[in-house]
Amino acid sequence: MAVKIGNIDLGEFPLLLAPMEDVSDPPFRYVCKQSGVDLMYTEFVSSEGLIRDAAKSRQKLDVFEYERPIGIQIFGSDIDHMREATEIASQAGPDLIDINYGCPVKNVACRGAGSALLQDIDKMVSMTAAVVKATHLPVTVKTRLGWDDNTKNIYEVAERLQDVGIQALSIHGRTRAQMYKGEADWTLIKEVKKNPRIKIPVFGNGDVDSPVKAANWRLEYEVDGIMIGRAAIGYPWIFREVKHFFKTGQFLEGPTIDERVDICHTHLIKSVEWKGPKTGIFEMRRHYANYFKGIPNFKEYRMKLVGLDNMAAIEDVLNDIRNKFDTVLV
Ligand SMILES: Cc1cc2nc3c(=O)[nH]c(=O)nc-3n(C[C@H](O)[C@H](O)[C@H](O)COP(=O)(O)O)c2cc1C
Repeated sequence: MAVKIGNIDLGEFPLLLAPMEDVSDPPFRYVCKQSGVDLMYTEFVSSEGLIRDAAKSRQKLDVFEYERPIGIQIFGSDIDHMREATEIASQAGPDLIDINYGCPVKNVACRGAGSALLQDIDKMVSMTAAVVKATHLPVTVKTRLGWDDNTKNIYEVAERLQDVGIQALSIHGRTRAQMYKGEADWTLIKEVKKNPRIKIPVFGNGDVDSPVKAANWRLEYEVDGIMIGRAAIGYPWIFREVKHFFKTGQFLEGPTIDERVDICHTHLIKSVEWKGPKTGIFEMRRHYANYFKGIPNFKEYRMKLVGLDNMAAIEDVLNDIRNKFDTVLV
């Protein structure tokens, strides 16, 4: 059965690209979209930044037609500011608004935003109600199991957020205290999903990094779809591989060196288009090692790529990589 968020039809068992700061920007989303991802989110956008009209926050509102369906994710600690930020983000024309109640990092959580709201469910519910009222778009939430081991309150959180009108919930199977350590535990995600009161789609998130794991956890935890983050960094093919495995039970061959070079090049071009040559080339540097992970003796090429600031010279190196490694199986 197709999964729906409001009127947005995501098809059967959608794959979602997780929101990731400094990663899930339009250039990265472009390559993930080509790989068949069903729903994407922007990086999180600060409500305070939006209200101040900060350029960095405003830029994160850029969404493109070919990206649909796409959600803009916002975070903040002040309910009125979140309401205002919702209005601003809605004007940017996304398909939905997502609220971040999961970010564990200090300068977000310690300022009362992100996962901090897991410590004050009443405020979280009021904030969510305010966001839902402030937009004509569907509102979704992404959060964690709870603040720490003693307060895994996601079961209650899910019911109360559904009651104030959210239309889907993505759950990262860790607590705030865990940050990114240990293994994600999807047991509670399943309990939320199996709660007869819960009618909205529930998406599982955390540690899915292969088609087999996606298939096993789909079966075991009975979620409505899976959200993938880190495994897509430098490897957007994860989406097409998982989809292929679901459809056929067979493993799709991994990308050839040509494909790695091509997609990396596309990412670079999109990066320059969107950010301008200087920033586009500079920020692409963090991605090269990921695109060519597993290729033996790659360091020399990586060093070259991260040392260049001229597009043509980078393209030459990419072509050298194509020729040098065309027989290498990764
Ligand atoms: C570099 C990085 C940036 C992230 N930024 C965000 C963010 O902006 N908003 C958010 O909700 N989660 C953010 N996350 C968390 C991811 O969305 C996701 O919940 C987490 O990585 C677990 O999923 P995974 O194991 O598939 O990566 C970030 C994670 C990483 C690694």
